[in-house]
Amino acid sequence: MFHQGGRGGPPMARLSSSVNRDVEDDEKLSGKIYNAGVIRRLAKYLVMVWQWMALGASGTIIRSVAAIFTPYITGLIIDHYIRTENSSGLNVVVWSLVGLALFTWLGQYLETLYLTYAGQGILFKLRTQLCTHLFQLSMHFFSINKTGKLMSRVQNDVDQLQTLVAQDVISLLANFITLAGIIIIMISMDARLALITLTVVPVMLILILVWQLYARRTFMRVRTAIAVVNDKLQEGISGVRVTQSLSREEVNIEEFTQANKANLDANISAARLQALMMPAVDILTNISFALVLIYGGKQVLEGTLGVGVLVAFLLYIQRFFQPIMELVSLYTDVQRAMVSGTRIFELLDVENEVKDKPGAIELPKTKGDIAINHVYFGYKPDVNVLNDINLKINSGETVAIVGRTGAGKSSLANLITRLYDVKQGQILLDGYDVTGVTQESLRRQIGVVPQEPYLFSGSIEDNIRNGRDTVSQDEIVKAAQATGAHNFISGLPDGYKTFVGERGANLSAGQRQLICLARAILSDPPILILDEATSSIDTNTERIMQSSMLRLSKGRTCIVIAHRLSTITNANKIIVLEHGKLIETGKHEELLNKKGVYFEMFQALSNPNTVSTEGY
Ligand SMILES: Nc1ncnc2c1ncn2[C@@H]1O[C@H](COP(=O)(O)OP(=O)(O)OP(=O)(O)O)[C@@H](O)[C@H]1O
Ligand SMILES: [Mg+2]
Repeated sequence: MFHQGGRGGPPMARLSSSVNRDVEDDEKLSGKIYNAGVIRRLAKYLVMVWQWMALGASGTIIRSVAAIFTPYITGLIIDHYIRTENSSGLNVVVWSLVGLALFTWLGQYLETLYLTYAGQGILFKLRTQLCTHLFQLSMHFFSINKTGKLMSRVQNDVDQLQTLVAQDVISLLANFITLAGIIIIMISMDARLALITLTVVPVMLILILVWQLYARRTFMRVRTAIAVVNDKLQEGISGVRVTQSLSREEVNIEEFTQANKANLDANISAARLQALMMPAVDILTNISFALVLIYGGKQVLEGTLGVGVLVAFLLYIQRFFQPIMELVSLYTDVQRAMVSGTRIFELLDVENEVKDKPGAIELPKTKGDIAINHVYFGYKPDVNVLNDINLKINSGETVAIVGRTGAGKSSLANLITRLYDVKQGQILLDGYDVTGVTQESLRRQIGVVPQEPYLFSGSIEDNIRNGRDTVSQDEIVKAAQATGAHNFISGLPDGYKTFVGERGANLSAGQRQLICLARAILSDPPILILDEATSSIDTNTERIMQSSMLRLSKGRTCIVIAHRLSTITNANKIIVLEHGKLIETGKHEELLNKKGVYFEMFQALSNPNTVSTEGY
C-alpha cells in the first residue's frame, strides 16, 4: 500500500493514453486536484451504487446532526432545569439526549454498513474491469509495462479510488455539516463567544498549510519507498530460483535491505512530522478552550451568561477542530485519489494493438499452408528485429528455424500466431491474411509450445485441458501418450491429478515442455509451432521429444525453432536467420554444401561439448 502512516498527495498525473510509455513515469508527473474527466467517469460508478450511497449518506447526516445537537441540549438542561431547579419537562429533554445517542448509533450503523457495500461494490467492479482488460491486452503492452506496476494499479490505485468514493466524499459531507452546524449554533447561542472560539481558526489553518508543505514531500517519499520495497520483493520472489542458483542472494538481500531501509527512514520522518502536528492542534484547541473559559466564565460570574451555554461551547470546541483537520487532509486524499483515478482510467483506455478488424472472418479449417511475404517487424518503432522475411511453408512440411540467440526466431513465430502485428508485409494462412481473420479462429488452429514452457498452478490434467471443458479424460491421456509425457505423468504418485505449483515449479524443464506439447496438440491443430527450450533438458526427455515430434509432424505443418541437432536434421526444410534476416534456406545437405553459416553452425553443434545452437 502507498498509504502509509500519514496523509499526503502524490503529484497529479494527467496523461494521454498511450501504450508506449512505462506506467512508472506516472509517479513523476504532476497535475491538479480537479480533473473533470476523472470525476465524470467516477460519477458513473457512484450512480451504480447510488442506493447504498444514499443510505450511507443519510446515516452520515443523522449522525452529524445528532452530534451537533448533543452539546446544545446539554447546555439547555443545565441552564433551564438544573440551575433553575425546575424539573417540569426535564424528563423530555433528558430523553431527547438519549434519543440523540440512539440516532448517533443508528446513523453510524447505516453509514458504516452501506458505505462499505458501496465501496466494495465499486472495488469489485473496477477490479473486474481492470483484470478483464489487462488479460486481453496484446503482448506489446506487457513487454513495455512492468508487472509490479500493473499489480499496484489493480490493487493500490483501486483501493485509493474506493476510499475516495466510499469514505472521502461522505467524510467531506459529514465535516461540512458538522462545521456549519456548530458555527450556526454557536453564533445563535452567543455571537461574541463564538467569535472568540473562532480566533484560533486562522492560526490553525496557517499552521496546517505550512505543515502540509513539508508533509507532502515526506509522505510522497513514504509511498515511493514502499512501492520500491514491493517491487524488489516481487522481483526477488519470482526470480528466487535463478537467484539461488547464481548465489546472488547476498546482492538481492542487500538491494532489498537498502529499499527497506529507505522505507523505514521515510516512515520515521513522517512519524516525526505527525508527532509535531498532533500536539500543536491540541495546544490550539486548549488555547481556544481557555479563552472561552476565561471570557465566558467572567460573564457567568457576572450573571450575563448561562453556565449551560458555556458548557455547550466548551463541548463544541472539542468537536470543532477535528473536522477542520480532516478537511485539510481530505484535500490531499482527494488529490491522491485523482491520480489513482487518472491512472486506472488510463489503463482501461489502453487500446489493444492486436485486435480483430471489423468484419474479420472465421478462418476456415486450414490445410496449413503458410506464406510469409516481405515481413518487417520490430518491438520498438525505430528498431527492426525482422527484415524482409520471405518464406513459403507447404502444408504438412516440417521447417526448422535456426540462428543465433536474438536472431528473431521466436519473434517470427509470434507473428504467425499474431501475438504481434507485422510492421510491413503479410503473413498468409491458406491465402488468408492473419490480420483479416479472428484471433480466436487463428489461434485455435495453431498449437504452440513456447520457448519458456509455462504451466498454471493446478493439476497436470488442468494444464493439458487448458479450459477446454468438452475434452474427455481419455483425450487428455491420448495427447499425453502422443507426446511421450504419459510415462512420467503416470509414474507420479497422483498421476494426472498431480498439482503443479506456480509456473510448474515442481517439474523439470523437459517435463514442462512435454506437458505444454500435450496441451498444444490436444485439439489436433493443423499447425504446430515448437519453440525449443534453450535451457538444457535431460537426454532422455530430448529423445522422447524427438520421437514424438517425428510422430506428431505427420499430417500437419510443423515449425520448429531448433536449438538441438536432432530436431534440425529431421526437418524437411531449414531456414537460417541472422540479425533478423533470412540468410539461408534449404535441406540439411544443401546447406552443408554451401559451406555458409549453417555449415559453421552445424560443425559447432556436432562438437559433443556444444549442446545447442547458442554456442556456435
Ligand atoms: N518483448 C520484447 N520487447 C523488446 N524486444 C524484444 C522482445 N522480445 C525480443 N526482443 C528482441 O528482439 C530480438 C529477437 O528476439 P527473439 O526472441 O525473436 O530471438 P530468438 O532468435 O528467439 O533468440 P533465442 O534463440 O535466444 O530464443 C532480440 O534482439 C531481442 O532482444
Ligand atoms: Mg527465442
